Amino acid sequence: MPDLPTLAQATTAVTFVGAGPGSAGHLTLAAFQALTGADVVIHDRLVGDEVLALIPAHVVRINVGKEGFGPSVTQSDINALLVAQAQTGRRIVRLKGGDCGIFGRLDEEIDALEAAGLTFTILPGLTAATVAAANIGQSLTRRGRNTGFRIVTGHDMDGFAEHEWRSMATEGEVAAIYMGKKSARFIQGRLMMHGADPATPATVVENVSRPDQRIHSATLATLATVAQALEGPAVILYGLAPRQAATAAKTLKEAQA
Ligand SMILES: C[S@@+](CC[C@H](N)C(=O)[O-])C[C@H]1O[C@@H](n2cnc3c(N)ncnc32)[C@H](O)[C@@H]1O
Repeated sequence: MPDLPTLAQATTAVTFVGAGPGSAGHLTLAAFQALTGADVVIHDRLVGDEVLALIPAHVVRINVGKEGFGPSVTQSDINALLVAQAQTGRRIVRLKGGDCGIFGRLDEEIDALEAAGLTFTILPGLTAATVAAANIGQSLTRRGRNTGFRIVTGHDMDGFAEHEWRSMATEGEVAAIYMGKKSARFIQGRLMMHGADPATPATVVENVSRPDQRIHSATLATLATVAQALEGPAVILYGLAPRQAATAAKTLKEAQA
């Protein structure tokens, strides 16, 4: 195994590692090396079983996801635990689902470490949206369609999150919506209110990169009904249809023209 430059830097108290959305195949090599070289791994609920299985048996594992650590876990509990573990001088990996810098409360944990005079390294991971897009055969940007794409959350600390709806509602726009199941009806309403076509495609990918991954095709008009019925973690790819469905719709449109 090569000695990766990213790991050469990882002589810090804590290494934040993005686990990718599920499959071990979506873990970076640097992340794998960090996991196998750790003394303690503190992980979230959304880290895939395949990734957890790569952690050697001698490594102490601490699950701070709600199911493992108890329903009352708070971010400040996690911060305190991280600091306490790092102060032992052992090699600590803080493992987060997807990319640790995307909706991962990374800064709050870094702030706690810095306040305690502790150092850190970040090893990014594949985020749910990039893998979801790949798994529906689409790219998130496309010449002539969209010159950028948004990564947005369905809710923030104040409830359903507000965004630049007018520009998001423009034809050809693409947005990856995280934590959007409960807020799907709100998002649908806001986009339609700002002029989005109800026929705009939206694909909801549930359990991305896991054995039980499901791809649910929707339109803006059906988005809430489709998304709210799902149980697993899901990312909404607004503006994208699975490639096969998109091709069929284009062919039909051309035939009708
Ligand atoms: C707290 S955010 C964490 C995002 C993560 N850091 C990432 O980069 O993918 C949790 C949300 O991410 C999305 N998500 C994370 N993992 C997922 C997966 N395997 N399948 C589908 N959505 C996922 C869902 O929208 C979920 O509600």
